[in-house]
Amino acid sequence: MSLYNFNEILKISQERNFKAIGSFNLHCIEMLPAFFKAAQKTNSPLMIQISTGTAEYLGYRLLVDAVRSLAESENVPTCLHLDHCSDISAIETAMNAGFSSVMYDGSHLELEENIGNTRIVVEMARPRNITVEGELGAIGGSEDGKAVAAEDICFTTVEDAKRFVEETRVDMLAVSVGTVHGLYTGKAQIQHQRLQEISAATGVPLVLHGGTGVSDDDMRLAVTEGINKVNVGTEMNVQWVDQCKNTFEKGKVNDSVRKFLIPANNAVTQVLMEKIALFK
Ligand code: 13P
Repeated sequence: MSLYNFNEILKISQERNFKAIGSFNLHCIEMLPAFFKAAQKTNSPLMIQISTGTAEYLGYRLLVDAVRSLAESENVPTCLHLDHCSDISAIETAMNAGFSSVMYDGSHLELEENIGNTRIVVEMARPRNITVEGELGAIGGSEDGKAVAAEDICFTTVEDAKRFVEETRVDMLAVSVGTVHGLYTGKAQIQHQRLQEISAATGVPLVLHGGTGVSDDDMRLAVTEGINKVNVGTEMNVQWVDQCKNTFEKGKVNDSVRKFLIPANNAVTQVLMEKIALFK
């Protein structure tokens, strides 16, 4: 089975009555079977996203081969997506390795430059049937475990979003509507009105970053308002590390390390299943 791009995987999700697809950050290769188990138990397709840090640590090729192999053996339609990348040559490496979707993150740039660079990536991706996610407005926060203030957000405006989508022709757009990456110091507050207006103005699938810490009610509502891709990263990492701390501390040095990882992976499966249930 070959990997699916975002548009294809979203279509399969919708055929199975999901309003959105979760895009889950894989933090290490050992976590991978836990993702597939969750997809099987929920009869959901799978979208796995990889940070550039993880891609460099594990190797783009290994990730493509491992994900493709499990997608086939477990019979789960799967999309492999490069998360937040502002380096076009790294995006090209991912494309050449066989990733089926990529994100160009130019949100730190002026609008014109963000549009120009995103267009370059879209032009590279189209002939290869690879989908492209762009980002507008700063979602903020951090993915390195530091707590962040939910107030530190630069919201996406409707006008900029409309122009960005028209001029770049991205497949999906990451919007800043109140969530942040990582652990919250306060509570996430999604601006639903803004979300609805951006969706109406752009007509493309929207992406909610910072899925960790969003309340179930907020999430259920967001997926009816144009959010078709929900990114979740920190929550799996927290659960995995938490379980490992416990099992590694209690285990003996001559126990198989595999035994320490199984409870951690079960916790990750649980997180994915709970998130996926919110997208119905
Ligand atoms: P969280 O780590 O806050 O869940 O966000 C993940 C994300 O948006 C990755 O792009």
